[in-house]
Amino acid sequence: MTKHELPEGMVRATGTTGTHEGYMPGFGNDFETEALPGALPQGMNSPQKCNYGLYGEQLSGTAFTAHPPERTWTYRIRPSVKHSTRYTRIELPYWKTAPHTPEGVTSLGQYRWDPVEPTGDDLTWLSGMRTMTTAGDVNTQVGMAAHVYLVTASMEDSYFYSADSELLVVPQQGRLRFATELGIIDVEPQEIAIIPRGLVYRVEVLEGPCRGFVCENYGQKFELPARGPIGANALANPRDFKAPVAAFEDREVPSTLTIKWCGEFHETKIAQSPLDVVAWHGNYAPYKYDLKTYCPVGAILFDHPDPSIFTVLTAPSGVPGTANIDFVLFRDRWMVAEDTFRPPWYHKNIMSELMGNIHGQYDAKPQGFVPGGMSLHNMMLPHGPDKQAFEGASNANLGPVKLENTMSFMFETRFPQRLTEFAGREAPLQDDYIDCWDSLEKKFDGTPGRK
Ligand SMILES: [Fe+2]
Repeated sequence: MTKHELPEGMVRATGTTGTHEGYMPGFGNDFETEALPGALPQGMNSPQKCNYGLYGEQLSGTAFTAHPPERTWTYRIRPSVKHSTRYTRIELPYWKTAPHTPEGVTSLGQYRWDPVEPTGDDLTWLSGMRTMTTAGDVNTQVGMAAHVYLVTASMEDSYFYSADSELLVVPQQGRLRFATELGIIDVEPQEIAIIPRGLVYRVEVLEGPCRGFVCENYGQKFELPARGPIGANALANPRDFKAPVAAFEDREVPSTLTIKWCGEFHETKIAQSPLDVVAWHGNYAPYKYDLKTYCPVGAILFDHPDPSIFTVLTAPSGVPGTANIDFVLFRDRWMVAEDTFRPPWYHKNIMSELMGNIHGQYDAKPQGFVPGGMSLHNMMLPHGPDKQAFEGASNANLGPVKLENTMSFMFETRFPQRLTEFAGREAPLQDDYIDCWDSLEKKFDGTPGRK
């Protein structure tokens, strides 16, 4: 399949704005799109009869009374109740949900993993999901899970939705297609995709094998952070987010829909593809974002701000300023601060920090934190630059330096993260990670002026 080739039988809207074929620009806009002319009712949501014999249906991503409400009206070949029969419980043993505290697994500690590699089996979006950490409680809609996905096979006549969560997908290797009820999103490394709670989709491999990271958000949706004194521009700009145009298929083949609901997985057998939304309008939709369009802001004289300055998206909690999850990006940028220790400082944090390396080398850990790898610095556990980074930055000539060939991210949550059994026992944990601070020696000897 080439980059813009559609799945067989898929009909997609045309004539959209912007240069990105198949997408509409803007964050949280009230979009409208139709794959057949006149399929979208104008001036009302629920006409007595919809054009083409379509069924009108609303997907609500917030309570009806939330402000602002987030919902989308769909006009589809069959209502969703026809894509749902009796449910059978199934097991996806590697996909875990909070609260989850496996016996004998210690979450307290500084952890780092080498990249998780795919096994010999065909792995789909569902069977290839490997949960590393969970936090909070899905039943009260707070917290998150961090996963690695390993995908080598497309979902064939198989579909999925999560009632539990919004998924933030961070590809690290390979290219994936999310064929959703509301349209098609293709992603590759250095892009992200966000799939909202309740939206049905299948995942196809465009170029495999595919590996990446997923932040499963049990709580309020991701939004753009308030920029405060930064003002109206920079960081992630709204126009760089892309929602897909409507696309549907009218395909009558035996199919399976899997649903994640309160941490349990259930299957229902249906007789057709559920991707049958011909037109839609609303502000509850999947989207993608190119991380290379992120405009970083940082120190231009001395010191450096907290890493929250690099927040791409934030999922709020009930406490103002204290995120359920922050998605933070460390990309290439200029370092110019004078008389300053430039890498991240040593610290302890009430928030817990899971990092992943998408590409290149991270400045605080020049070795060992490799693309596809992860690290976890949990709630109130000290961490910071290793010996090599400390000595290098303490003695560097502080001219302007461009950090290049680097892209890492952080899923930071206000809740402690619990390791899964997979993370603690099966994944390639670096047993010697803690040793990276071993050789930091005591320099103090009471001599004034010693540096
Ligand atoms: Fe940190």
